Amino acid sequence: MSENHNSAGGVPTTGHVWDDDLADFTNQPPKWWMLGLTASAIWVVVYFIMYPAIPLATNGTFFKGVGLPGSGQWTAIKELETDTAVLDAVRKPYEDKLKGMEPAAILADADMSEYVSRSGKVLFSDNCGGCHGQNGVGSMQTGAKFAQREQGLMAPILLDDDWLYGGEVETIYETIAEGRQGMMVAHKDILSAAEIDTLANAVAAGTPTATPLFAEKGCTACHGEDGKGMHAMGSANLTDKVWRFDGSIEGIKQTIKYGVNSGDPETRVAIMPNFTEAGKLSTTEMKKLAVYVYKFGGGTAPVVEAPVAAVAVDAASATEAASAPAAQ
Ligand code: HEC
Ligand code: HEC
Repeated sequence: MSENHNSAGGVPTTGHVWDDDLADFTNQPPKWWMLGLTASAIWVVVYFIMYPAIPLATNGTFFKGVGLPGSGQWTAIKELETDTAVLDAVRKPYEDKLKGMEPAAILADADMSEYVSRSGKVLFSDNCGGCHGQNGVGSMQTGAKFAQREQGLMAPILLDDDWLYGGEVETIYETIAEGRQGMMVAHKDILSAAEIDTLANAVAAGTPTATPLFAEKGCTACHGEDGKGMHAMGSANLTDKVWRFDGSIEGIKQTIKYGVNSGDPETRVAIMPNFTEAGKLSTTEMKKLAVYVYKFGGGTAPVVEAPVAAVAVDAASATEAASAPAAQ
């Protein structure tokens, strides 16, 4: 119970009382708080004068601000342009050098190859990721359009060393620049149901050559004598059980019956677009992407003809080389 609701310890209250003894004092807020408040109020005024902030009565116009001392009126575009200019200045020497380099040379140059790995990421996401999956992991065909055909991967996985056309950096470049479209004829009118069954079972087991039909029916013409595929034709390796389409017996029968890009309405579709047409990508961008894809890890290393003498380095010169100061 409080006797005096209007003051306590000499500090007057606002007169508001709750629960009999809970009252509002009229104490000043602490000094640091008042200073902070004043400083923010001043800052607001300064900010409003410096930056575009105050809308004017006239339609759509606003006070543009006097800008920062020395750098004139501030605009978001100006800031963006300055930032971009800084970035471009960093990139320019690399971009200039890239123009004269073949993909293999870029790979061999540690600095350039690192630059390309970094700048290729966005290019890949923008142009390739939709079909090949982010970072080349592949993406499944979903949605009604594909479900009815039970398609497998929308586009091949680019991370592994299983290549339809070849994993040399030049071949990857060629794939991007020219596009690819593997073709396998439809066999539904050429083979009997029993033959398709035998072939599908042999292929599913990863041993296509186990049946003489594989050679007799001309599969070897495109998939090779050993069934391992031929890069020149983009025909799949049928011995590794890595499937582009459906790897089940039924799925394989489907591929054999209707082919790939064969023109049959039921055919499997596999079209890698051409990125040169209509200037979709510049030569430099395609080079970057070839190196970027190669560096996913599945690339086929170029055959380097190492000079024989390099093997016979004598101990003395090896030690000398190791202790020599690093070149700048
Ligand atoms: C519209 C979907 C689509 C887009 C976009 C696409 N690809 Fe492809 N890509 C494919 C298909 C489908 C194939 C397989 C073609 C075939 O089977 O004949 C393929 C094949 C490839 C291959 C050959 C793989 C092998 O095993 O030899 C490479 C490399 C490749 N693409 C890289 C890229 C790059 C890099 C981009 C971006 C610039 C890209 N692709 C954009 C669908 C696409
Ligand atoms: C005219 C060339 C050609 C002939 C003939 C041919 N194929 Fe193919 N086949 C291809 C190509 C090209 C592909 C790969 C398509 C792709 O991935 O883009 C393929 C893919 C396949 C696949 C799918 C593999 C996967 O990973 O999903 C199977 C299965 C297959 N062929 C089996 C056969 C069998 C069995 C025969 C013989 C009856 C045969 N092919 C004859 C060109 C041919």
